[in-house]
Amino acid sequence: MSESWVNSAERIGSDLLLELAGPGSRRAVLIRALRDAVRAGRLPPGTRLPPYRSLAADLGLARNTVADAYAELVAEGWLTARQGSGTRVAHRAPAAAPARIPKKAPSRPAPPVHNLRQGQPDAASFPRTAWLAASRRAVNAAPNDAFGPGDPQGRVELRRALSGYLARVRGVHCSPERIVICSGFAHALRLLFGGGVLRGPLAVESYGLGFHRSLLVAAGVRTVPLTLDEHGARTGELTGLPGVRSVLLTPAHQFPTGGPLHPERRTAVVDWARTRGGLVLEDDYDGEFRYDREPVSAVQGLGPDRVVHLGSVSKSLSPAIRLGWMVLPEHLVGPVLAAKGEREGWASVLDQLALADFIESGHYDRHIRRMRQRYRHRRDQLVAALAAHAPHITPTGIAAGLHAVLRLPSGTERSTVKAAAWQGLGLDPLADFRHPAATMPAEDGLVVGYATPPDRAYGAALEALCRALPPPAGA
Ligand SMILES: Cc1ncc(COP(=O)(O)O)c(C=O)c1O
Repeated sequence: MSESWVNSAERIGSDLLLELAGPGSRRAVLIRALRDAVRAGRLPPGTRLPPYRSLAADLGLARNTVADAYAELVAEGWLTARQGSGTRVAHRAPAAAPARIPKKAPSRPAPPVHNLRQGQPDAASFPRTAWLAASRRAVNAAPNDAFGPGDPQGRVELRRALSGYLARVRGVHCSPERIVICSGFAHALRLLFGGGVLRGPLAVESYGLGFHRSLLVAAGVRTVPLTLDEHGARTGELTGLPGVRSVLLTPAHQFPTGGPLHPERRTAVVDWARTRGGLVLEDDYDGEFRYDREPVSAVQGLGPDRVVHLGSVSKSLSPAIRLGWMVLPEHLVGPVLAAKGEREGWASVLDQLALADFIESGHYDRHIRRMRQRYRHRRDQLVAALAAHAPHITPTGIAAGLHAVLRLPSGTERSTVKAAAWQGLGLDPLADFRHPAATMPAEDGLVVGYATPPDRAYGAALEALCRALPPPAGA
């Protein structure tokens, strides 16, 4: 194709020169030109691209050529296409590099195009229509007082809906009076420890979310790591920790290594809390997502007076909603409300009412059932890809949740994450989750969030993963 510069400025709405030059078919040349424009920052995230017809006319190309090029770039994750909002530059497409730097061999890995980092549900599957319908019904039905300052305990409509849901699905013993609404698990930690309701030291699992550890550090709480084995946290170590009266656990699905807490340990930890006059904090972050094993009910059901059950919609619906709940032993309701203050300052009352409707109308259950199937399929695809291309890598923690841990040959974790970054694949090394004072042996691994990419980008992300994995030891 001959070299030609076409200015599509009026249609795209910002200055853009597409250089249609170089070898290959017209489609390939156009794909390269658009990709370069995004990579160079000339088409920033969110920019709406012109419709096929206009660009095809502008560039003197067939419509199908432009449509094919867009479709390819959508599949690669550079663009997004949505009915009614056209084709846009993806928000997670590679960020801008200074436009004037000429092309040369990159000295740093490109920002991720594929994302297998853990931490978020499939954002493309958010149930927009059902959520909008629930919001509309909730706002229409809301009494006038819903539009005034919020009750710091949370709307009773939501507390009622959660009380029924948590009893039915998670085996939690509760009543609306024992629930306090918050803006997610992190907020609950801030209230409990930063708000002076509980004090450290706090026992935690040797692997967990660093963000939560930093929140605790910021609240002046010393954390003491418990060893993990194939049955979850070794709760027996608690008796040897003088001064520790509370423990934070992820009993349904240890985060991030996977696997439920062994039934004997579930009972033992509640007995320990009772004997010590302490508490178990149960982080039930993805309790609904289990695939090939029986559901594990909440530890809270074994000792509602000794367990603080903490949940949120961050994995089940979206972390953008910022709604969570604490099911508290009776004696803690007052102190937590005192820590919250006189008015609700975090959790939107209208979102609370929408969530209450979403649960009561059955949409929450339906959404979770749908996502469970979808994530199970994703999980199966991951397992199949590994079996086919990297049979020496074992995925673990795969019976539940939205992520898996891939065990790697010793000494290969950092280089694998680096190799992945060079291919534009974002991955979380297992070491990032390790408590700095953990004494258990460190193993190399990756925490792979298989829920994160949209469906259309998942296959390419798995291919990039398999390419980045180390060869078998000695190969
Ligand atoms: C281990 C763990 N706990 C809790 C949560 C929920 O956090 P939040 O409700 O603050 O979004 C997450 C992330 O979704 C998590 O990974």
